[in-house]
Order: sequence, then C-alpha cells, then structure tokens
Amino acid sequence: MAMKLGRNDKCWCGSGIKYKQCHEEFDRRIESFKNAGHIVPDRSLIKNPEQVAKIRESAKVNMACLDAVGEKICEGMSTSEIDRIVYETTVKYGAIPATLNYEGFPKSVCTSINDVVCHGIPSDDEILMDGDIITVDCSTILNGYFSDSARMFTIGNITEEDRKLVEVAKEALYVGLKEVKPWRFLGDMGQAVNDFVKSHGYSVVRDIGGHGVGLEFHEDPWVSYVSRKGTEMLMVPGMMFTIEPMINMGDAEVFQDEDDGWTIFTADGSKSAQWEIQILVTEDGAEIISE
Ligand code: MF3
Ligand code: CO
Repeated sequence: MAMKLGRNDKCWCGSGIKYKQCHEEFDRRIESFKNAGHIVPDRSLIKNPEQVAKIRESAKVNMACLDAVGEKICEGMSTSEIDRIVYETTVKYGAIPATLNYEGFPKSVCTSINDVVCHGIPSDDEILMDGDIITVDCSTILNGYFSDSARMFTIGNITEEDRKLVEVAKEALYVGLKEVKPWRFLGDMGQAVNDFVKSHGYSVVRDIGGHGVGLEFHEDPWVSYVSRKGTEMLMVPGMMFTIEPMINMGDAEVFQDEDDGWTIFTADGSKSAQWEIQILVTEDGAEIISE
C-alpha cells in the first residue's frame, strides 16, 4: 500500500520542491499519453538535476578516455593498448570502466574493427593496420553514475568508400538528436536515423540498439533505430539515453562469435560503423552529456 502524494508534499523526484510546483503537471501529462495507449517512462527513468550533475562528471572522464585514445591511436598498435589507455585514464580520475567484468566482459572498452559491428574484445594479437576503421566504445562509472559514448578512428589511408560510411554513421547521431524533444516519441528519432542512413544506401542493424543510461549502465528504454515516427516510448524531460546506431555497408544481418560470446560481426562480411552519444531530454529539446 502506498500513500497518495499530496500536492504540498515534496516531489517524488528528489528535488526537495513541493509536488505541485515540481512534477504534478508533468505526471498529468504522462498519464494522458498513457491513456491514449502510448508507452510512457517510469519515474525511475527521470533524472533530477543533482543526478544529472553527477552523470556529467562521469561523462567528463568518459570523454577524457576517448580523447586520450585519439591522441595515441595509430597503425601498429594493438587493441589491448587501447584498453590500457582507457583503463589508466579512467582510474586516474577515480572512476571505474563500466564494461570491465560486466556480465563477464573481460576488458575496459570495446574495440570493433571493420566488419565487427560492436562488442569487440581488445587483444594483444589484434594489431591496427593501414586502412582499418575502428569504433572505440567506452563506458564509465564515477561515484556510481554511468556514462557511455563511442568514437571512430581511421588508421592510415582508408578508402573513400569507408570514409563515407564512417561519416554517415557520425552524422546519423545528429540527425537523430534533432528529433529528440520532450513530449515526442523515441520512434521519431529512430525513423529519422533510419531514413538518413538508408538514403545513403546503408542498412541499420536491427538486433542491437541503444539504451537508457545514467543511474545504471543499461536502463529502459531499449532504443531502436529501425522504429517508426509516433511509436515507442514517450520522451520527457529528465530522460537519458544513448543514440548509437550501427550501420552496415551491406546487409543488416549480424551474428555473434560463438567462441568469445561477445563479438558481433556483419553476416555478409561488409564493413560496419558506429559512433555513440549520450543525451538528456530537456524542457525544450536535448543536451549532449557525452560524445
Ligand atoms: N557500450 C556498450 C553498450 O552499452 C557496452 C556493451 S556491454 C559490453 O552498448 F560488455 F559488451 F561491453
Ligand atoms: Co551504449
């Protein structure tokens, strides 16, 4: 049994402000979308300003890790050296790599080269070669708050075709971001990403998506980039999630490596690209938390 929240009681969000001056109107609005049959976010997905501030601190470390990788990454380097850079930068700032020992993942970062779609495991035996494209996907825990972003790097001389793929994968994030607005739907963002990627002749991976993030590594909602406008979860201020579409030069089909249980490859061996940003839904649009 739960007591009904009085209008003069402190708001459920933890702001310390009276409910009537904080989330009362917000709750009413959510209720009306719910009654109209839409998927609406649970209260646990709404971050208050204090939590956002802590997550931003985590994101600073997250971005510093990718900056550090960007300074050093080069042909001849092994992906385990990238892992070491991420680990050392993370702990230098008092943080913890979120992937390390996450459901058995053995490393501090995911490194996904060429036809690896995501979740590549850094290794001493994997050496960056001229012409490679690589996604470095980094996630960070600082004081219990989570941040997650990924950047791509190109090694030596890459083909014009590959450069285009990498550029479209990056641009897709900002095409999606433009559609992130409160009281609209995640599918608005998903369709914008999908339409954009398809207009360049690439396919969007369907089986792996983005996720809510901040208080946990992976929160609801699961974020699809093959969704349709007006569908999926309602976006409201205080929600945080990732935009991280994986795009393939060829077919959208992927498979998981049976031996390591993690690495995801394109089924047709075509190249795949992915960047990732973490965003906050605000009162009038969206803000990037980590990129
Ligand atoms: N940053 C990746 C994601 O959330 C991490 C996946 S879990 C891992 O999409 F264990 F594979 F790293
Ligand atoms: Co992620």
